[in-house]
Amino acid sequence: MRIAHISDLHVSSGYFVPEWADRLIDEINNGKVDLIVITGDLTMDGHLHEYEMAVELLDRFGPTRFIVPGNHDSMNGGYEVFEELFGTRKPFFENDEVAIIGMDSSEPDIHDGKIGRHNYPIIREKVSKDKVTIMALHHHVIPVPKTGREWNILSDSGDVLSLCVDIKLDLVLSGHRHLPWVWELQDTYFVTAGTACTRRLKGRSYPSYNMIDINDGMIRLDQINLLTGEKKRMMDKLRNPLPDQ
Ligand SMILES: [Fe+2]
Ligand SMILES: [Fe+2]
Repeated sequence: MRIAHISDLHVSSGYFVPEWADRLIDEINNGKVDLIVITGDLTMDGHLHEYEMAVELLDRFGPTRFIVPGNHDSMNGGYEVFEELFGTRKPFFENDEVAIIGMDSSEPDIHDGKIGRHNYPIIREKVSKDKVTIMALHHHVIPVPKTGREWNILSDSGDVLSLCVDIKLDLVLSGHRHLPWVWELQDTYFVTAGTACTRRLKGRSYPSYNMIDINDGMIRLDQINLLTGEKKRMMDKLRNPLPDQ
């Protein structure tokens, strides 16, 4: 199974570059991708007209989309529009190979992130013993280097981090920082995607997205530079089956 992980499109901002979006759509539609996971910040301020622009863009992607909202999407009542358009802020996907748990880490009109204690049992319940298990959320769980002074990390990041490691999630996918990064902690990889098609970049970094291949318990993750097409292998792991509970 092949999953494209993209984030932080910010379609309505002055930073959005339509040519980069065209390239992204082209690469994904021709890349034998089965599912696209989008870790939030589709819009800039969560307004209805911005969501309409986002939907117009998303409809150009061929594969099925799995979307969680970002802090920008929940502004100005945008979280309600998000639910109207995409059904839920906490999607769940499952097939023979993977289980993907989507979490809304945003709070209306607050840029800080939070998962909240009430969601921990839900995450724990959905972990699959036999499948690659992924959690997707907008905010980062571990600070990302080179992104300035730390802010907006999950306010309950310590508890979420402990949960992710304890239940041995294979991958935690996030965005928000606009800089691609991967942390490995025990059995879990914490993957932050860069911004896919905006100029809201850090220093000399570049627009990018992640391509994840899952085959017979083998998980590979490549970071793709959208400007050059260069691929960087960020992860290559054979999943250890979880013991019987
Ligand atoms: Fe963003
Ligand atoms: Fe964000």
